[in-house]
Amino acid sequence: MTSQTLREARRYEEASEKMIRKEERPEFHLSTRTGWMNDPNGFSFYNGKYHLFYQYNPYESKWGPMHWGHAVSQDLLHWEYLPAAMAPDEAYDRDGCFSGSAVALPDGRHLLMYTGVVRQRQDDGEYRDIQTQCVAVGDGMDYEKYEANPVLDKTDLPEGSSVHDFRDPKIWSNGDGTYSCVVANRAADGTGQILLFTSPDGFDWKFKSVLDANRGRFGLMWECPDFFLLDGKWVLLTSPQDMLPEGFEYHNGNGTLCLIGDYDGETGTFAEHHNQAIDYGIDFYASQTTLTPDGRRVMIGWMQNWDTCSLRSPEEKWLGQMSIPRELSIRDGRLFQQPVRELESMRANKVAYHDITFSDVITLDGIQGRTIDMELSIRSGSPDSVYQKFAVRFAQNDQYQTALSFRPHESVLKVDRKFSGSRRAIIHQRRSLVNSKNGELKLRMILDRFSVEVFINDGEQVMTAIMYTDPLADGISFFADGKVTMDVVKYDLI
Ligand code: FRU
Repeated sequence: MTSQTLREARRYEEASEKMIRKEERPEFHLSTRTGWMNDPNGFSFYNGKYHLFYQYNPYESKWGPMHWGHAVSQDLLHWEYLPAAMAPDEAYDRDGCFSGSAVALPDGRHLLMYTGVVRQRQDDGEYRDIQTQCVAVGDGMDYEKYEANPVLDKTDLPEGSSVHDFRDPKIWSNGDGTYSCVVANRAADGTGQILLFTSPDGFDWKFKSVLDANRGRFGLMWECPDFFLLDGKWVLLTSPQDMLPEGFEYHNGNGTLCLIGDYDGETGTFAEHHNQAIDYGIDFYASQTTLTPDGRRVMIGWMQNWDTCSLRSPEEKWLGQMSIPRELSIRDGRLFQQPVRELESMRANKVAYHDITFSDVITLDGIQGRTIDMELSIRSGSPDSVYQKFAVRFAQNDQYQTALSFRPHESVLKVDRKFSGSRRAIIHQRRSLVNSKNGELKLRMILDRFSVEVFINDGEQVMTAIMYTDPLADGISFFADGKVTMDVVKYDLI
């Protein structure tokens, strides 16, 4: 039975979607149908299609009562909106259906697992969220919340764990008919931990172990965990709140963290031996992965951040889009990311230049655009000295520009959107240490009207940034202080 609250949301989104013109949205990144979007939820392949749900307030372009928005795609790039899947309409989730995930059940149904939120007055007189885990089942369009919800609550928590921060279940099938999930939680020491639960059927859950604990090392609370085997290693992804920078890593207050290590299935514990940020740009948070039918581990993230999400003004009709889905792999013990290979079928109008040597500002015929895939390969243009600085400026006209600049002597790549047209002075730049020898650097830049994702050195690092620059600003120019030699290959994405 569809509740009144959900019917109302479905009516509202259908009517107000029509107020947003296609050109006001990104071309192939999923943006909120209307209102506000944050985390990706329920990313899964079900009944022949990719399903992507998201944290959704249809009524305003700011965070509010959390619904689950819903879209489907055949290729991870062309998305079709479906009616909102869930609304906060039950006693156990009346203040929000928070983030979660999905799996296909063997009986053909689609199982969603999410956090139900209820705000309650506590003994100290303060109002605080009580968070529990709930499930719903459906057919890819309509979902019914389980009558025995919640399936995990305070009685399932280890001693001292907080009921106020217990959220974002990520479920997976163990392949033998049983299921596991990881859930973010605040431990007795006030920082994050990831709890592991198991289930024979997806409905009946039992605590297994504390998979990993933050102990204040990486920020405080860890949000949106994901845990999977990739290229023979176990990977734990989380989005920690309140990170402190370490050198060039972790400069977003709400950051992203990738831990790579070993998993002991007996004890249910994870031992990390490598850590890195997932994204080194400004706008990326709350990642979630799924497996494609051909076995690729694909990750998507909210292409925004809690520290920057007021970049657009609240009067705008929509706020929030997802990153491009990215294929993950491990090379030399690090996480690598590449845009999904499906993107290649959107490439058109190739323009290429090879061995262009320059030492000032240049523009190149046919190299422009705001919905493009551009590969740059740069190196020193002189045999006996390495240049001082290289920059590529894009989304550019007389008034605006966003820039990537590289200083080879420091090995620092910087993204700068100070002149991108935002009236708000929030986080304009991010600098990242990259791998480079003799001024050599490879960049692949994906632009989709309001965003840039830069894949550095074949995906060794990624820098993501939103820019709400006037879409008519589509110029691109290159700058060198010293002599740079460059190859450029650019495609329009259509
Ligand atoms: C992460 C997050 C989640 C929560 C959701 C609420 O961005 O804070 O932890 O479930 O957003 O919308």
